[in-house]
Amino acid sequence: MKALMITRLTGPDALTVQDVSDPSPKPGQVIVEVGAGGLNFADVMTTKGGYPGTPAPPLIAGREFAGVEEKTGRRVMGYTQWAAFAEKTAAYSHMLWTVPDAWTDEQATAFPVNYFTAYLLYWQSGMTQPPAAGRTHRALIHAVAGGVGTAAVQIGRLLGVEMYGTSSSDEKLARVKELGLQHAVNYKQHDYEEAVKNLTHGEGVDAVFEMLGGEHTAKSTRCLRDFGRVIQYGTATGQPPQLDVRAMYAKSGIVQGLWLSYLSQKREIMEPAWKQLSAWIAEDKLIPQIGHVFPMDRAIEAYKLLEEGKNYGKVVLKIPG
Ligand SMILES: NC(=O)c1ccc[n+]([C@@H]2O[C@H](COP(=O)([O-])OP(=O)(O)OC[C@H]3O[C@@H](n4cnc5c(N)ncnc54)[C@H](OP(=O)(O)O)[C@@H]3O)[C@@H](O)[C@H]2O)c1
Repeated sequence: MKALMITRLTGPDALTVQDVSDPSPKPGQVIVEVGAGGLNFADVMTTKGGYPGTPAPPLIAGREFAGVEEKTGRRVMGYTQWAAFAEKTAAYSHMLWTVPDAWTDEQATAFPVNYFTAYLLYWQSGMTQPPAAGRTHRALIHAVAGGVGTAAVQIGRLLGVEMYGTSSSDEKLARVKELGLQHAVNYKQHDYEEAVKNLTHGEGVDAVFEMLGGEHTAKSTRCLRDFGRVIQYGTATGQPPQLDVRAMYAKSGIVQGLWLSYLSQKREIMEPAWKQLSAWIAEDKLIPQIGHVFPMDRAIEAYKLLEEGKNYGKVVLKIPG
């Protein structure tokens, strides 16, 4: 079968399509014939050896896919750690979800990582429960026009959250506003810490979904309302997060982590999340945002688009076969 191989951990240029043997399923796994693969920032980090636990190359790239379960013919979308970008992949059954009838493979592959991550961010922020009487939950969402960001806006709208979102581009922000983002901040033009302070009349937000790292962890802490939390779930800048302990004291604030790779192993967390997400899907309330579709043999361009932060929503690879 054809597969997208990471030949060296030197960045996207070392990706190449090769013929490899079909996967052999381990106990608990099934074979899926893959139609489309969803690109995640973690895939870009993996090509540089920057993702925890990456095996030594050569290895097959990709962690998210949609296709058909070989034995049953069921259309599925799934999440795995490696080897999704190939004509066939071996996946654990509990990490496969039935694709809604109306969705294409491209839409389905844009679902698992973005929507589970976004849902779990709200869950950890206490926002899947109604706010106290007379209050509204407020969230600051960085990279609001990206894969997780656009999912977070759709879910935030359903939860009645007042959302503040950052992006480098007015064009991207205009598209996210159509999804329900109330307060758009172009961080190339405005300091988001100032913007949040002004927009919330000095009060701040209950949660920041922080995936930049470096100084942004500290800056995001200064955007908090009393008892708020920064959830660190990525470091797209490549810089280790910096803490502002004084701001944590001042707001009695929390900085915590969240990692889907780990949480996805816990059925007691994933099953209730899927129950809510699938109910919203059934009501047509979640529409995965696909910004760009590339054939697998142009994967290098796709990875670079994400690496350079030029994407809107999800970047998808069409898998031949
Ligand atoms: N912890 C978890 O379980 C988990 C799960 C999924 C994703 N993540 C993390 O969440 C983040 C978003 O992932 P994603 O796959 O949905 O990607 P994405 O948001 O679709 O793409 C990354 C976006 O980040 C923004 N950005 C800001 N600074 C950047 C920089 N220095 N380099 C590149 N992009 C930059 C860009 O948007 P603007 O130009 O609009 O700012 C870019 O479009 C990543 O950090 C990823 O590692 C974590």
